[in-house]
Amino acid sequence: MKKLIIGNWKMHGRISDNNQLLRSLVDHKPFRRIEVAVAVPSVYVFQAEDLLANSDIRIAAQDVSRFSVDGAYTGENSAAMLNDLGVFYVLIGHSERRQYFGENNDILSEKYGAVVKEGLVPVLCVGETQAERNAGIAEQVISQQLEILSGYDSQTQVIVAYEPVWAIGSGNVATVEQITAMHTYIKNWVLQKMGSAVSIRVLYGGSVKEDNAVVILSNVNVDGALVGGASLKTSAFLSICEYAEKTEY
Ligand code: PGA
Repeated sequence: MKKLIIGNWKMHGRISDNNQLLRSLVDHKPFRRIEVAVAVPSVYVFQAEDLLANSDIRIAAQDVSRFSVDGAYTGENSAAMLNDLGVFYVLIGHSERRQYFGENNDILSEKYGAVVKEGLVPVLCVGETQAERNAGIAEQVISQQLEILSGYDSQTQVIVAYEPVWAIGSGNVATVEQITAMHTYIKNWVLQKMGSAVSIRVLYGGSVKEDNAVVILSNVNVDGALVGGASLKTSAFLSICEYAEKTEY
C-alpha cells in the first residue's frame, strides 16, 4: 500500500500564498510511490480544486458537518458539499477539534458516518495527552477514541492518524519505540474489531519536519504522515514527500 502524506494547513492560508504553494506542488514531478493530499481550510477548497485539477494531489477537508442532510445548520459544510467540490479525504476528530470545539465520540461518530455515506474517505485522528501518557493510560485513551470505528465493520479501507497531543506543534516527536508500539496497537485493534480483510493505514502526526521525516517514514509501521506546520512551507513539505517517495520500506 502506498504511504500517504497529508499536509494539514489548519487555519492558515491566503489566496496568493495558496496559489504559490499549490502551484509548486503541481509543478513538482509526479510522485509514483506515495499518495499526497492537502487539507486546506474549507473556504479554499474551491481554489485548491481548481489548481490541483490536473494533478494526482488530492484534497482533504479538515472537518465536516455532523449533519448529512441539507438544512438550517448555519455555518456548516456537509459531506455532500465537500464531495461536490472534489474533496477526497476528510479529517475526523483532530485533537484541536476535540479540544476547542468539544467534539466527543458521539459527534465524531456522526461525522464519520456522514463521510462514509457520501463515499469520501475519513481519516480518524487519535492521540493521548502528555498527562494521559504519564498516567500510563495512553492505549486506553486511544482504544476509546477508536470506538468510533465500531459500526463500520463493512468498511474495507481504514485510515487512522496517530497524533500524540504533546507532539503536535511542539517540536517533540514521539520516539521510534513509542510510534511502533502505538501503531501496532492501533492496527491490532482495527484488525480484531473489523476483521482481517480490512486494509488499515496508520499515519503518524506531530512535529513531522524535514529533519525527522526519514526516520519516521522508514518505520515499517508508519503508513504515512499528517504534517501540520511543515506543510505550509513548500520546500519542507516537498522534502518530506520526497523522503517518503525514496524511503525503503
Ligand atoms: P504539526 O501538526 O506537524 O504542526 O505538529 C500536526 C497536526 O496537528 O496534524
